Amino acid sequence: MTDELKPIPLFNLKEQHDSLKQEINAAAMEALNSMHWLLGPQTEKFEEEFADLIGVKHCITCSSGASAIQIALAAAGVGPGDEVITTPFTFIATTSSVSLTGAKFVFADIDPRTYNIDVQDVERKITKKTKAILPVHLYGYPANMDAIMHLANEHGLKVIEDCAQAHLAMADGVKVGGIGDAGCFSFYPSKNLGACGDAGCVTTNDDEIADRCRSLRHSGRAKDKAYEYDLEGSTLRMDEIQAAILRVKLPHLEEWTEKRRKAAAWYAEGLEGVPVVLPPTPPAGYAQSYYVYTIRAEKRDELQAYLKANNIGCAVYYPVPLYKQPAYKNRGFKAEDYPEAEKAAKEVLSIPMFPEITEEQVRRVCETIRAFYEKDATI
Ligand SMILES: Cc1ncc(COP(=O)(O)O)c(C=O)c1O
Repeated sequence: MTDELKPIPLFNLKEQHDSLKQEINAAAMEALNSMHWLLGPQTEKFEEEFADLIGVKHCITCSSGASAIQIALAAAGVGPGDEVITTPFTFIATTSSVSLTGAKFVFADIDPRTYNIDVQDVERKITKKTKAILPVHLYGYPANMDAIMHLANEHGLKVIEDCAQAHLAMADGVKVGGIGDAGCFSFYPSKNLGACGDAGCVTTNDDEIADRCRSLRHSGRAKDKAYEYDLEGSTLRMDEIQAAILRVKLPHLEEWTEKRRKAAAWYAEGLEGVPVVLPPTPPAGYAQSYYVYTIRAEKRDELQAYLKANNIGCAVYYPVPLYKQPAYKNRGFKAEDYPEAEKAAKEVLSIPMFPEITEEQVRRVCETIRAFYEKDATI
């Protein structure tokens, strides 16, 4: 196969895994043989290291990004009878985690430029029952945290950040996960920091939220008491093997993020003059983590088919906004209430992005996209 036809994947987990395989295997074996399989020294050290990197007081690991959102909301006092305002343009774990607390989620539309929650619409959706705002830093681009925190302070609301796609993204000079009352990260394998299985964590500067998260992930156990339960929690711990593996990868996260940013700069250069909308340029003090590189394109479905035919991986995040999901069909949502999410779902396309992507690969993706529109122009 010539280089021109070699597939360029959307993600490339294998290359990164292979480069660290020996260290990962050794760390996993050590954790396995230690017989401290849950909440042992690897978990404790990883929690310290991740908290340091994000710049927060506490990191509480748990079984997934979804469970992180669930326990963070519950720890912040969200429960039955409460409303949580969030975006419909996200992965379903954002909203299913709200439902698992017994609270109700309410959608605000998105900002068409950043795909993140539109703060003016959030304000319109606030009622007496609103308890929290749950912004998602979609694709790794930080939500408008300054305005969200301002609004939350004005109305006495909690802010729980969904940082599943945004490790090391930054808003107003502060890393996401350290701005609201708590941040929720996913370490799903494809994420910017990925475990070899499911894992996640909550970050917070709030001692009480941290204590409650520690309890909620561990059956609701009272601090330092084996069979006394302050809360009704569940079995939502991360295991030691994942902590050991994450500790091998963590020292590389900053460098991997820089490589993603470099690839984004190659895309911006290579797509100049092509009729697609590029991801927003972060203002001063903001930084994107480029979990994915998402363009907005006319004739999106045809472009996607063309890229696939040319061996270039691409995907739509998300083709069906949450208000249209069968799981939510009886909730009375109307698509016309979310015109920007509706449009974005028809136009966005994520193209290959991973730290190891080469300049040549990015160039080939850009040239293929350019060729698609030039071919079209000549028909
Ligand atoms: C925006 C968003 N929120 C929440 C999650 C849930 O994370 P996990 O898959 O680790 O439960 C994900 C992960 O896919 C996500 O992308």
